[in-house]
Amino acid sequence: MDLVGKISLVTGAGQGIGEGIAKVLAQQGSKVILVDLNGQAAQKVSDDINNAYPDSAYSYEADLTDEKAIQSMLEFTDQKFHRLDCICNNAAASKGLGPVETYALEDVQATLDLTFTSLWKCLQAEIIFLKKQSSPASIVNISSNSALKGYAFNSIYAASKAAVNNLTQSVAKEVARQHIRVNAVSPGTINTPGVMNYFKEEPSAKEMLERSALLRRIGEPEEVGEMVAFLLSDRSSYVTGQIISVDGGSSIN
Ligand SMILES: NC(=O)c1ccc[n+]([C@@H]2O[C@H](COP(=O)([O-])OP(=O)(O)OC[C@H]3O[C@@H](n4cnc5c(N)ncnc54)[C@H](O)[C@@H]3O)[C@@H](O)[C@H]2O)c1
Repeated sequence: MDLVGKISLVTGAGQGIGEGIAKVLAQQGSKVILVDLNGQAAQKVSDDINNAYPDSAYSYEADLTDEKAIQSMLEFTDQKFHRLDCICNNAAASKGLGPVETYALEDVQATLDLTFTSLWKCLQAEIIFLKKQSSPASIVNISSNSALKGYAFNSIYAASKAAVNNLTQSVAKEVARQHIRVNAVSPGTINTPGVMNYFKEEPSAKEMLERSALLRRIGEPEEVGEMVAFLLSDRSSYVTGQIISVDGGSSIN
């Protein structure tokens, strides 16, 4: 129960990895605000959490590409708790797939907006919020192992995540003196609705991706959540500016 008394916010918590992260944070004793474009999905996950840990979870619908929605999300947090200790910027999406020669510029822009610029907008507003409250805080950005090795036919997503890694390190340097830690968690292939749909379409990909991990399986959202919970807790008090893979060892295989 490393997060007792903490107030946490998780973006993209309506399903997948964000859902797993929010569940682990609540299990660790935190109050959690679950933010998602899909308000109903965030509400459903909140209900599940509250059934297990009463009065722990609150949902908030927001499109995080929109600065006003980001401000409203932070105002909601302020009104509810007057404080924020832990933030996980997890929401992302991409548009378009294919070789670099045919990748449409509008899809490049959309993917950058959904995966990098929206996270940057969140981080900017969050840092302003955290500096005003002037108490220690921890932020975790969710990256991807594709940032470390590239990703054929999904190059703009991978490049956006590489930008997230670099942003994480730059901002960690900027805010360390204010006792705000900023790290990134870089998942390998995780059991999420998108990955499950992909496996249905391409059954051979499942075995290939399982084999690519030293542990010979894909990961579970809660396994990412465990690392996020550690980085958001005071137990990681000397860790900042790091990119940490949760990938069954696939990044070194
Ligand atoms: N699934 C994987 O194997 C995997 C691997 C590496 C990295 N990641 C990263 O982990 C994170 C979560 O991935 P996932 O697979 O769980 O995704 P997902 O698509 O299953 O869930 C993402 C959630 O974010 C929400 N969302 C998307 N754009 C939003 C926006 N603009 N505003 C608010 N909410 C928004 C969606 O509604 C959805 O509920 C992403 O950053 C992704 O890049 C995933």
